[in-house]
Amino acid sequence: MSRDQNLQQFVSALDKAIFHRLAAGSPERDLARRIFEALQKPGERGQRADQAALPAQQYLPQALETARSGPADLAAVADAFETLAPQLNWYRRKGSDAAGQIFADGHANASIVGAEGFERRTDVQVGVSLLAPNIQYVDHHHPPAEVYLVLSPGAWRQEQRTWHEPGLGGIVYNTPDIVHAMKAGDHPLFAIWCLA
Ligand SMILES: [Fe+2]
Repeated sequence: MSRDQNLQQFVSALDKAIFHRLAAGSPERDLARRIFEALQKPGERGQRADQAALPAQQYLPQALETARSGPADLAAVADAFETLAPQLNWYRRKGSDAAGQIFADGHANASIVGAEGFERRTDVQVGVSLLAPNIQYVDHHHPPAEVYLVLSPGAWRQEQRTWHEPGLGGIVYNTPDIVHAMKAGDHPLFAIWCLA
């Protein structure tokens, strides 16, 4: 099975950008190694659902411009993502209606690799979250461990600890099932998540 060229370019750029930001011997580096080793083997190509764009997707151009203002390896991730973006299944978080219309319209997620991804597979998930300015993503948790590559300003929190700003190119590492959230300030928040 061969992989779509744009997806391969994205995976390679992401691998490079994440890996050199992680300290040797750290659990997040072990997780990243596991994820990108698994991704060397392409999965099955998914289908794009025919759907209208979500309101929060209007912030993508601004978010990509910010990502491109960072180091070259982040710009490469942003460029590769931009080519994929129109082909992805963008979605609202399941049950997000309960959090109110402002949150429902203020966020958009897209799965790149995963059960509903551009590439279908269950061993690894890679996707993005985009938040409109001044939107807080709901507290959430999931069994797989997770590494976020942060591509914008914005604040992050784990459990009830204080909010912190990883900054453009920052990494957030979540151990399995830890409760976490993020929130955008004046600028859209944009981050790539990788789970396994
Ligand atoms: Fe998460």
